[in-house]
Amino acid sequence: MFIYREKDYGSMSRRAAQVIAAELIRNPSCVLGLATGSTPVGAYQCLADWCKQGLISFKDVLSVNLDEYKGLSPEHDQSYRYFMQQNLFNHVDIRPENTRVPNGLAADPQEECAQYDAYIRSLGYADLQLLGLGRNGHIGFNEPGGSFIKETHVVDLTQSTIDANARFFASADDVPRQALTMGVGCIMAARRVLVVASGADKADAVYNVVCGPIAPSCPGSILQLHKDVVLVADEAALSKLTAAGVAL
Ligand code: GLP
Repeated sequence: MFIYREKDYGSMSRRAAQVIAAELIRNPSCVLGLATGSTPVGAYQCLADWCKQGLISFKDVLSVNLDEYKGLSPEHDQSYRYFMQQNLFNHVDIRPENTRVPNGLAADPQEECAQYDAYIRSLGYADLQLLGLGRNGHIGFNEPGGSFIKETHVVDLTQSTIDANARFFASADDVPRQALTMGVGCIMAARRVLVVASGADKADAVYNVVCGPIAPSCPGSILQLHKDVVLVADEAALSKLTAAGVAL
């Protein structure tokens, strides 16, 4: 795992955007696995700026998002489709038909998951998969549990995730209890994985992902088995690693 230690959220965001931009320049028709959450917002802003300046282009990019809340429509302001439109897609030259987010309103969610998996497989998996980290070490919405689930699946969100995401909703009661998420199979099949983390409340998750035991109790720990992972994090998110004397 290659770790970039950045001073703060701003430099973390720029560095993460640089890694994504480098992929776009290397392979203009790449498959990008994209993530939601507050952490990647700054990186998306950088990419939007650079795209407006003509430095990069998403014209031939295909995107696949990690996850979506079950039961939220694409127009719901807390759906991940809406998030992607607001934070990236509306500001860059990506073709709308080349963007995919799981359909949270699918009549048959299991079938939607199977089709989503088949679609990503048909693309040959992501060239670069962007990931944030949940405070409990989740990636996408792969929550801590008894096993790593390979395929795209419907997941029951843990109370910790519901509480963490309640800040975006009117109340915790409004947070959906389930989501559709890419499994760890597609994530691990990506050629390169870029993990972003910011803030002291991610320090435990970062520590467990980087040097904890590889176990489904911390889903992100499976990334220790991936041969090309880049972690871009700020000092606060790396604080537990540095306190433990891990050389960065
Ligand atoms: C959600 C998303 C994850 C994201 C996580 C952390 O649970 N499903 O993909 O990484 O939130 O979000 P934040 O970056 O806001 O801390």
